[in-house]
Amino acid sequence: MPENRPSPPIAGSSRTIGAVTTDNPVFACRDVNVHYGDKHAIKHVDIDVGRSEVLAMIGPSGCGKSTFLRCLNRMNDTIESARVTGSIMLDGQDIHDRKQDVVQLRARVGMVFQKPNPFPKSIYENVAYGPRIHGLAADRGELDEIVNTSLRRAGLWEEVKDRLNHPGTSLSGGQQQRLCIARTIAVNPDVILMDEPCSALDPIATARIEDLIDELRESYAICIVTHSMQQAARVSQRTAYFHLGDLIEVGETKKIFTNPQAKLTEDYITGRFG
Ligand SMILES: Nc1ncnc2c1ncn2[C@@H]1O[C@H](COP(=O)(O)OP(=O)(O)OP(=O)(O)O)[C@@H](O)[C@H]1O
Ligand SMILES: [Mg+2]
Repeated sequence: MPENRPSPPIAGSSRTIGAVTTDNPVFACRDVNVHYGDKHAIKHVDIDVGRSEVLAMIGPSGCGKSTFLRCLNRMNDTIESARVTGSIMLDGQDIHDRKQDVVQLRARVGMVFQKPNPFPKSIYENVAYGPRIHGLAADRGELDEIVNTSLRRAGLWEEVKDRLNHPGTSLSGGQQQRLCIARTIAVNPDVILMDEPCSALDPIATARIEDLIDELRESYAICIVTHSMQQAARVSQRTAYFHLGDLIEVGETKKIFTNPQAKLTEDYITGRFG
């Protein structure tokens, strides 16, 4: 277990309303800025992500939700024009430290995308790939065990146990998304980032993923970007509202949806814009 670490102080430039810090955070982000060339896409964001918490990120299209999410596992490194500044601490360690191995970081901070993106490999190999490259299994028996457990935890085992050697792409969209979640879980992450994970799914597949998020919260911190306020209200404990690159307000989900403090948050959740 990580030792109990308090949140680092906020620099004083934060204009965010609400409780940006948590006790013993898994992520502590301070004064995070992202520029794409001249475009200032994320502005002085301070926020913690708590353990065993689902943090929902909401806001109008283009406000920077995906950009901020990508900061947390350094996926913005892959975008040439992107420049990230500020401090992002994962369990008290700076993710931008020169000693930080990015492949390790992305195993600890897994990501599930909007469109399910299984590898062009079998169902088994999709889940086994990560544990294999990270050397998490000593032999085939252990690897089988990890694949089995990950598929069970992702709620997919019963549907695929008789066809593990079929291509991942032969599954339905909702099953593929659960396969991607199984693939993420298989390397034993601390945090799972989800960028609109249900937007390509029907209501039944969406409900399954939402139930799954609720179960996974016991073991992982989860940050989810969603355009569905109902979804944010159903799955998250804390909600962060972004607007034009600013983190306007963050707080307990119930409070954000029933009694927001900022006019911008209120306008968004009541559907006045967005
Ligand atoms: N690769 C990129 N190059 C240049 N600008 C970018 C890039 N990605 C995003 N942006 C810009 O940064 C801003 C934030 O974009 P981002 O994709 O993070 O928003 P978002 O809140 O996720 O939007 P959506 O809800 O539509 O997914 C936008 O103005 C966008 O045009
Ligand atoms: Mg986005």
